[in-house]
Amino acid sequence: MDGATLETVQGWLREAPHVAVLTGAGISAESGVPTFRDAQTGYWAQFRPEDMATEEGFRAQPALVWRWYQHRRQMLQGVQPNAAHLALAAFAQQHPGRLTLITQNVDGLHQRAGSADVLCLHGDLMEDRFLDLPRPCCHPDTVEAGDPPQCPRCGNMLRPGVVWFGEPLHLPTLEAGQHAARQCALMLVVGTAGAVYPAAGLARLARDAGAKVVIVNPYASELDAVAHVVLRGTAGQLLPLLLAAHVPTPPGGMADSA
Ligand code: OAD
Repeated sequence: MDGATLETVQGWLREAPHVAVLTGAGISAESGVPTFRDAQTGYWAQFRPEDMATEEGFRAQPALVWRWYQHRRQMLQGVQPNAAHLALAAFAQQHPGRLTLITQNVDGLHQRAGSADVLCLHGDLMEDRFLDLPRPCCHPDTVEAGDPPQCPRCGNMLRPGVVWFGEPLHLPTLEAGQHAARQCALMLVVGTAGAVYPAAGLARLARDAGAKVVIVNPYASELDAVAHVVLRGTAGQLLPLLLAAHVPTPPGGMADSA
């Protein structure tokens, strides 16, 4: 990628009254969190999504699926937000009200980096909820330990609080994401294959509403044709470069975080 392209995007960032950012698993790759669709290293190279990320899969093999989510939860305790998560959080703090962060990730790394009000389209890996509609006997605090834990009275199982394939997204969160996509002057699409809807549709929505759309991804994605500019590189390399240029320069001096 040439410097002129980077400068063009930096200019759009400077001028955009509102910026929306849509992130996917790739933004956490440099923290050591596996993606889903990357060949060999992605989860879906090892597992079938219909087994591990659907209600039917969970009902068929609850212990196997629960243990996989427990494994992912434990793995997250050993990783840290990377330069891309931190750059987004810093930008939002330096430009209050200008950035809406929309993520498909359930890993909580944006929040741990200091981003507030993250629109988590696919839920939160660290949360649990009951699989079936809770009955009066079902209390999360009194579940019987197990893989998965369950209500000792009726057997209702806990499941992870993520959105599985075939399930609707939390509507207010999706609507807030759609609103941001329609309002923004610039959308950055970072580290997503763009294969899962309605999340991926936000990029097209932004473009149709008149926003510039910029992709940050080292490899081709299904959204490349929607973008005005595709920046080929990793999130950890490119987001600090793009976003740090926007620390306001104090009169007569170098920009400083102090
Ligand atoms: P994917 O695994 O489908 O895509 C990850 C993307 O990140 C790919 O396009 C990679 O090229 C890119 N990538 C890899 N390393 C990167 C890096 N260092 N910097 C930037 N990009 C990098 O993940 P998602 O698009 O997030 O949903 O997947 C969407 C949804 O499908 C997930 O939320 C999950 C999954 O199945 C559910 O489980 C419901």
